[in-house]
Amino acid sequence: MSEIAIIGGTGLTSLKHLEITRREMVRTPFGEPSGPLTFGTFSGHEVVFLARHGYGHTIPPHKVNYRANMWALRETGVKHIIAVAAVGGIAENLQPASLAIPDQIIDYTWSRVNTFFEEGLSSVVHIDFTEPYCSELRNKLIDASRKANLDAVESGTYGATQGPRLETAAEINRLEQDGCTMVGMTGMPEAALARELDICYATCAVIANKAAGRSGGKITMEEIEACLTDGMEKVRTLLETVIPEL
Ligand code: HPA
Repeated sequence: MSEIAIIGGTGLTSLKHLEITRREMVRTPFGEPSGPLTFGTFSGHEVVFLARHGYGHTIPPHKVNYRANMWALRETGVKHIIAVAAVGGIAENLQPASLAIPDQIIDYTWSRVNTFFEEGLSSVVHIDFTEPYCSELRNKLIDASRKANLDAVESGTYGATQGPRLETAAEINRLEQDGCTMVGMTGMPEAALARELDICYATCAVIANKAAGRSGGKITMEEIEACLTDGMEKVRTLLETVIPEL
């Protein structure tokens, strides 16, 4: 049984150095997850990997079945999830191809199914979400980044937008005024669903580009892909360093 899961986002549809033992399609009461769960050994430890957008990267952020993904992982006994997510950098210190471990979230998404607690309840449930990420796991990611000299930015507020389009420059100005330092499309409801299932969840954000209006030009897919290639090498090092500590 693997207690550690890695959810790969854009740029991480498979995990290099994962020695795969089996793949399993888990059915859930909420439908099918983004793809089969991939079980294997990574850095000498059993882990399970799931590509959030599907293994062919075909599922856009607003169409991901977040509930099925989280339920399937919990069903297999997962207790810790490291969620890898591509983001746009809003704050000046979040440079393309670098890593960040956010500590807060503002949710701007809409019309996504965002809870397990909506039917058949004996009473209404409100989870505490003051600290949206698991502090124990965040601290381990921060320690691993220091140990491996990855220089990850150790805090930040993740603004979760609906996508799939990127933002306007004015939207990014508004997010910045709200306190967001980075922007991505998949952080919610994933983090809240993990908390509802009592799974220890933290995000490793990879800065794919400067957010809209911050680089003086358009954001291109070529730029995003180039930064993610560099950034994902850092993610692999981070995972290799942190997983033995969990
Ligand atoms: N905005 C939202 N999501 C993203 C971005 C962005 O600029 N870059 C990568 N994911």
